[in-house]
Amino acid sequence: MSTVIAKLQTEHVRLARLVRLLNHQSCLRTDASAPNIALLVDALCYLTRFPDVSHHVIEDRMVDVLLAKKALSVEVGQEIESQHATLIRDGRDLLRDLESAVRGENMSQELVDIRIRLYAERLRHNMVVEELTLFPAAEKSLSEEDWRTVEGANSQARPDPLFDNEPDLQFAELFRVITTEATTVSAEFPF
Ligand SMILES: [Fe+2]
Repeated sequence: MSTVIAKLQTEHVRLARLVRLLNHQSCLRTDASAPNIALLVDALCYLTRFPDVSHHVIEDRMVDVLLAKKALSVEVGQEIESQHATLIRDGRDLLRDLESAVRGENMSQELVDIRIRLYAERLRHNMVVEELTLFPAAEKSLSEEDWRTVEGANSQARPDPLFDNEPDLQFAELFRVITTEATTVSAEFPF
């Protein structure tokens, strides 16, 4: 397996943990009187700061190289890139609205919770589509030179601020909650 695919799959397992957290925490928010909004802000902050600017960017380059080689259907390639664009837009909008809620501005909690769960489901679906279509096509068709193009400037990849080494101080509580939840879920079935 290519090292790029192996890294992306590792990141998918990590992102699946974020998906579970978003679903679980948004349910708690609807049911409980004490909102855990700071944790949701941290999760969206991480998602907009790392996967949106690193993970999805590498996958988009993979799509472009495969389309140029006619090794991926145009429909699938456009769908994946469109899913990334939607995730990036919705992640930023959600983060902005959650931060407004932290400041006490009037927000519909129920509406925000529904949008969080929709965002989580879109992220989960995007990963499944990539694992079923993009990754097998890349494994089959990309040359060494293609892989270097896919890695691009990211070959000196920036560290993941949540999962690589010690988490950034900002994400310490998020990491603690994710790690606690992970002990109760099988890592073999991340989606
Ligand atoms: Fe992905």
